[in-house]
Amino acid sequence: MANVLVTGGAGYIGSHACKALKAAGFTPVTYDNLVTGWQDAVKFGPFEKGDLADRARLDEVFATYQPVAVMHFAALSQVGEAMSQPGRYWANNTGGSLNLIEAAVAAGCLDFVFSSTCATYGEHDNVVLDENTPQLPLNAYGASKRAVEDILKDFGAAYGLRSVIFRYFNVAGADPEAEVGEFHRPETHLVPLVLDAIDGKRDALTIFGTDYDTPDGTCIRDYVHVCDLVDAHVLGLQWLKDGKGSQIFNLGTGSGFSVREVMDKAEEVTGSKVPCTVGPRRAGDCTKLVSGSTRAITDLGWNPQRSSLEMMIADAWKWHQTGNYEA
Ligand code: UFG
Repeated sequence: MANVLVTGGAGYIGSHACKALKAAGFTPVTYDNLVTGWQDAVKFGPFEKGDLADRARLDEVFATYQPVAVMHFAALSQVGEAMSQPGRYWANNTGGSLNLIEAAVAAGCLDFVFSSTCATYGEHDNVVLDENTPQLPLNAYGASKRAVEDILKDFGAAYGLRSVIFRYFNVAGADPEAEVGEFHRPETHLVPLVLDAIDGKRDALTIFGTDYDTPDGTCIRDYVHVCDLVDAHVLGLQWLKDGKGSQIFNLGTGSGFSVREVMDKAEEVTGSKVPCTVGPRRAGDCTKLVSGSTRAITDLGWNPQRSSLEMMIADAWKWHQTGNYEA
């Protein structure tokens, strides 16, 4: 079976990608420094501990496994932290990615799938966010990812590197078989925090701002199920192997839900109230981020089937109840 190097394979999205790659007939080789990932989540292929900054270690792993492609998930991804510690984001997300891309090119591994983000778009009033929307990130997280997109473009021109770039909207949910799921420490993402508040693992959810220009005053996001998201990555890999060349795809459903709508749906799914308080806005948050593109569906053949808010919360709740995320 062909090897695919999966950076961040011990993380939330990377571990789901490893499961999907294995199901598609590939061997996912996880490369992860375990700073935010968990070794217990590496269940679907070999594990190689290493940091993106360690070029010698990267070269060794490329030589050992001769991967046919790279899927690059490893990154710091908290908007709040990016505002207070921007240097870490530039060093790890941009500098680390540059190191990885150079190692891949040196090893002759020229098919590259990259996790980018809708945070690269920033705030756009009443504009449909498609792949041609100007990228004006509001925070160092989005900026550090946009820079990697530029690096991939330049390396494509210079060395023939082929890249599929996915700009994620808000990823939620978990493997319906609950083999892997979401497990950030500290947790900052809305859906797991809502579930923590429901089952008493935290006192209450703090709603970050109720004075946004939205119907109920809370921020709107486009939530996509992690299993649908990683399915797109397998299609992206196939796209590259079919010689279709470099492309950028938004991964969102086109439906936006406010923080309060997510809370309401979680109450419906679990049958329990979400204890909550209202706090100030969180620095770096955009009012509304919703994908206006169907390119992934029309061109890539993506068929997101689990991304209803109800199914995402139900799958996240199932995982939550295993207690595994507390490991
Ligand atoms: N929120 C709260 N209270 C919380 C946590 C979140 O009200 O305790 C709100 C946020 O203000 C935001 C929404 O819930 O309006 C979603 O917040 P998340 O932290 O779950 O997600 P973000 O939108 O901030 O960021 C996520 C990923 C990024 C990605 C981004 C794209 O963390 O990696 O989605 O929108 F880039």
